Amino acid sequence: AHQWQGVISEYRERLPFAESDPIVSLGEGGTPLVHARALDERTGARVYVKVEGMNPTGSFKDRGMTTAISKVLQSDTQVVACASTGNTSASAAAYAVAAGLKSAVILPAGKIAAGKLAQAIVHGAHLVAVDGNFDDCLNITRALTERYPVALVNSVNPYRLQGQKTAAFEIVDYLGDAPDIHVLPVGNAGNISAYWMGYNEYAGRPTIASLDESAAHMPPISTKVPQMWGVQAWGAAPLVLGHPVEKPETVATAIRIGNPASWKFAEAARDDSHGWIDRVTDDQILNAQAILAAEVGVFIEPGSAASIAGLLKAAEAGKVPEGATIVCTVTGNGLKDTATALGGRELDFDPIAPTPEAAAAALGF
Ligand code: F0G
Repeated sequence: AHQWQGVISEYRERLPFAESDPIVSLGEGGTPLVHARALDERTGARVYVKVEGMNPTGSFKDRGMTTAISKVLQSDTQVVACASTGNTSASAAAYAVAAGLKSAVILPAGKIAAGKLAQAIVHGAHLVAVDGNFDDCLNITRALTERYPVALVNSVNPYRLQGQKTAAFEIVDYLGDAPDIHVLPVGNAGNISAYWMGYNEYAGRPTIASLDESAAHMPPISTKVPQMWGVQAWGAAPLVLGHPVEKPETVATAIRIGNPASWKFAEAARDDSHGWIDRVTDDQILNAQAILAAEVGVFIEPGSAASIAGLLKAAEAGKVPEGATIVCTVTGNGLKDTATALGGRELDFDPIAPTPEAAAAALGF
């Protein structure tokens, strides 16, 4: 039976890797595109969710980590470093292990979901907690990687976006053409830039984020590109406001970012696609997370739920075209942050007697 080989092996001809280049992969990509009928009913469109929480470390970051860390294998560098709101650090730590490298992760103290922190720890990352936010951490990490022989694996590393663009390829391969609209959460703005690049390269036109050596010149696969709809959290919405946010705040810690590194690429994606970037409140995010869990059967983390919340907000405002094909990327697994999902609900239950009768009575059968 065919087993998915990871994004570099599956899409090598469209990535800057030769057949003989060493690569490190944990089998990332090939994630489910789930038709979410409950969202059809709520929006009048045909809505799919691209379930990126199914990647090896539970988020889309793995697509870009296989490419970024495979490039490190072509150098003498032994250490990779990143700033992170949690998922990048989990992915970098895991892929560093697979590549035989060391990892250093610079994190905002007290603002990383427990599951993500556990991942960095079990994968043996050198972990530093900073009294500051993600933007501070990224500045520190950039300075360190300039001064020391350490490879930067944040999405300012162009090979990250190269890997992440493969999600757009998978969607077109599955649907037969690009969707009409693509919705995704925006934090540091790398992913929206990567999808826009992927959709364009598949349509036969490179974007400003494309690399010369990448296969932007290959024959087109798709006939169109989607509108890109980006969604930020209300208290961390620099791209909506048009200026950096000094003290970003949101329950969705994954996208708690005030000065996105890929600002220019994200604006180009928005404008060139005739899309938009909007913001949603924490309540809208948590409500969307609950809807996806209870009505679709997919458990996503709050940062991922921003895309669903943005779609639902647009639907309420009458901005979703009837019958449009829409893909929402849900970026990370709900298991990474169970505390927020449970929202104070009790995990202690009064035990019953160990009999079927007692269970039947308790269940009201
Ligand atoms: N969703 C999740 C679950 C994320 O972890 C992130 C970013 C985003 C969305 C936003 O993607 O930054 O490309 O716009 N997380 C980074 C991290 C910042 O450190 O894990 P983006």
